[in-house]
Amino acid sequence: MIFVTGGTGLVGSNLLLQLVDKGEKVRALKRSSSNIREVEKFFKRNKSQEIFHKIEWIEGDILDVTFLPTALKGVKTIFHTAAYVSFDPKEEEKVIQINVDGTEALVNEAIDSGVENIIYVSSIAAMDDINPISKLIDEKSTWNNDAKHSAYATSKYRSEMEIWRGSQEGLNVIVVNPSIIIGSYDGNRESEKLFQDNFINNYAPTGGTGFVDVRDVVKIIINLYDQKLYNQKFIINSENITYTEVLGQVAKKKQKEVNSISNKTLKGLQIITSFTKFLGTPALDSGTYQALTTFTKYDNSKIIDTLNYTFIPVSEAIDYHFKNYQEVISSK
Ligand SMILES: NC(=O)c1ccc[n+]([C@@H]2O[C@H](COP(=O)([O-])OP(=O)(O)OC[C@H]3O[C@@H](n4cnc5c(N)ncnc54)[C@H](OP(=O)(O)O)[C@@H]3O)[C@@H](O)[C@H]2O)c1
Repeated sequence: MIFVTGGTGLVGSNLLLQLVDKGEKVRALKRSSSNIREVEKFFKRNKSQEIFHKIEWIEGDILDVTFLPTALKGVKTIFHTAAYVSFDPKEEEKVIQINVDGTEALVNEAIDSGVENIIYVSSIAAMDDINPISKLIDEKSTWNNDAKHSAYATSKYRSEMEIWRGSQEGLNVIVVNPSIIIGSYDGNRESEKLFQDNFINNYAPTGGTGFVDVRDVVKIIINLYDQKLYNQKFIINSENITYTEVLGQVAKKKQKEVNSISNKTLKGLQIITSFTKFLGTPALDSGTYQALTTFTKYDNSKIIDTLNYTFIPVSEAIDYHFKNYQEVISSK
């Protein structure tokens, strides 16, 4: 039996579809507030509605240690994708609690319940040090405690450490570190903000980063699991691209243009929002400012060499998911 956390999210719903489609027996976690109708609609859009009913849903919360033994009964492998994805400094406590404490609780119960394997979706946000020769971040890059980080980045680093602790205590683990995921699901995901018609998307910061299609993320996770490539980590990244280029591609589809926002203006916004966050307006922390104004590049050669893998180009990912996103929004 496979246990999937985060099955009502972007990565998790795509993962559920592929796992059930390949005949795996799957139990999926949902919270009382989760909307599994969106997962069903997603399966329907992918012409797989009949297999949706093969998923065994279990209701609970990753933070509820009294619930986890029931959830993990008879489970051999966990795919842990659940997390709280937010860059709002007002939500720092919640981000750390769900991501770090939730992963710690899951690892502890996995060990106690005799689970054998955990496949964990970490993030490039958990990696800092640039390889001085390639000028890229690769799987050997470590976390720099002195650098500025968002609470989300800190939470992903600390939760990845919980997974490696699990490995020390006997679990087989696979850690994947996807770059920014391009995807479409219910129109409300963090990844889908790229397609939204909001003011922020009209202004591109000066930096850049890695981007990858959610379909690649899921295909790679399942491939690594099938090949039992345990106790390793893999960056999952299609291309390193500037925000101007990515936002520009999306804007072109809306027959709009993207303006650039200077580092100075962004810094001003960071200072202003650090005061106004108490009034409930969106805020920008210094770690996020740093990420938006730097072009950090990620090395995808390990995964390409290991799986002989070809990534979906970012422009194709944007085409496919922007179209899906528009269909989802217009059907609401
Ligand atoms: N999106 C990206 O660009 C990106 C990039 C790199 C790595 N990642 C990582 O990839 C993973 C999946 O991200 P995503 O974009 O798919 O996120 P998402 O769409 O926001 O989905 C998050 C999932 O986690 C669940 N969840 C949140 N809090 C929970 C709790 N306390 N107990 C149980 N489940 C809980 C949510 O359930 P509800 O439906 O009930 O809210 C949802 O199913 C995360 O670990 C994220 O850090 C994401």
